[in-house]
Amino acid sequence: MANPKTAIRKALLGWYDTQARALPWRVGPAARAAGVRPDPYRVWLSEVMLQQTTVPHATPYFLGFLRRWPTVRDLAAAPDAEVMAAWAGLGYYARARNLLACARAVAGEHGGVFPQTEAGLLALPGVGAYTAAAVGAIAFDAPANVVDGNVERVMARLFAVETPLPAVKPALKALAARLVGEARPGDWAQALMDLGAVVCRPKAPLCERCPITAHCAAFAAGAAEAYPRRAVKADRPRRHGAAFLVTRGDLIGLVRRPPKGLLGGMLALPTSDWRAERWTPDEVRAAAPAPGAWRQVGEIEHVFTHFALTLQVWRAEAEAEAGAELIWTAPDGLSALPSVFLKAARAGLTPFG
Ligand code: ADE
Repeated sequence: MANPKTAIRKALLGWYDTQARALPWRVGPAARAAGVRPDPYRVWLSEVMLQQTTVPHATPYFLGFLRRWPTVRDLAAAPDAEVMAAWAGLGYYARARNLLACARAVAGEHGGVFPQTEAGLLALPGVGAYTAAAVGAIAFDAPANVVDGNVERVMARLFAVETPLPAVKPALKALAARLVGEARPGDWAQALMDLGAVVCRPKAPLCERCPITAHCAAFAAGAAEAYPRRAVKADRPRRHGAAFLVTRGDLIGLVRRPPKGLLGGMLALPTSDWRAERWTPDEVRAAAPAPGAWRQVGEIEHVFTHFALTLQVWRAEAEAEAGAELIWTAPDGLSALPSVFLKAARAGLTPFG
């Protein structure tokens, strides 16, 4: 029998040659074979965004960033608050802060040119093992092992690995490493990602369209969807809080959250603390950012990585002179809010129509 590594690589790269997705940060396989090189800035920016979310959700953000900051030097020179606002809706704001720190290091310490090796990339602020491997492979054809959730799923199925997630992650990474070769590292990394996203999907995988079913142990067992195995998850803890929609005519009073911690540095509605017990109306009124005729106008749910949040939404018109420390913002400025506060603001503003 042919060496399975050689056969798997040939089949998957052949599939990618005809089926690669056209993505705005990507140099497709034909152009790449003709010598076109991707822009490392685009590759890096897309990878940071895609660690956060899906291709369809990330794409408009990616295009918006590029329009506004076409090079890493432009991004490095941007004010923090503008970048944070442009990031709003992508979630996990520590990444936006790291993004800026990295852009500034590339612009300031590397003359605006990304390092070309995985080790050089890893030394940049905010660049972890995944991003260094992905940028190394895709931008510079370094033979790096690029393993995201999609690739983990492909490996778990290809080798029908029984150990559940998350403990199995290092083993899946080691299996993926065995398939990396010297030829076409950038195409290989992206071929695996595309296979995971389009064919080897989490639910209802399209095995009939897969170029490597002949090698797939889970397919042979008729159980592709059963992999990766998962440990039973404990429920997320729940926290409760109140968000305050304080208005002055059409303007809404916002705050900037402290730089460290969840949603650090982002614009936000003022809130109470978030705690395990529900807040009573008297407690909510005592925690309000300004005196006023506070009344509850809604309630929203938001799921963060480590907990679920129930936020009561309370609203009042500010009394004259109150709220001097708030950032008074017109309704169209609310798009800079992280999703949780946008949701709360929408819930509370509905009476405005
Ligand atoms: N997911 C993460 N990185 C990706 C990339 N470069 N192309 C497609 N999907 C991805």
